[in-house]
Amino acid sequence: MVMLKWKPVFSVGDPAVDYEHRQLLELVNKAAQAILENKSEEVIDQLFGDLLHGISVHFAHEERLMRTSGYDQLDTHKKDHERLLDVLRDIMDCQRHAPQKSSKDLAKLLSDWFIGHFSTHDTRLHNKLGPHYQTNMKPS
Ligand SMILES: [Fe+2]
Ligand SMILES: [Fe+2]
Repeated sequence: MVMLKWKPVFSVGDPAVDYEHRQLLELVNKAAQAILENKSEEVIDQLFGDLLHGISVHFAHEERLMRTSGYDQLDTHKKDHERLLDVLRDIMDCQRHAPQKSSKDLAKLLSDWFIGHFSTHDTRLHNKLGPHYQTNMKPS
């Protein structure tokens, strides 16, 4: 079951960034699907760990670019990253107690966040920096 699908509206206009964003979507789908299929705690923990790691690496990459380029909206952009990480950690904490709810929360959170963050903060950032972004993620 695919919970979130890539849509053209998510594009920030840089293929390397779009590639990383698509990889993150896949990690979200894997974690949410594992919850819905009642996979073992170990498997779910691993997938959430992969998701949190992937998102953290991507955010760190963007934040480094913002710092080194003197980007004028670093604080606002970084705060939005931190907001997502906080909510994601909350979902990880409660997923053992109410897995169906967690999966719905995860899908809703990420779809809202993708539309909101990618189409505003990321699009502005990458339009301003131009196409010099190097992806950290390797094709799987
Ligand atoms: Fe961002
Ligand atoms: Fe991003």
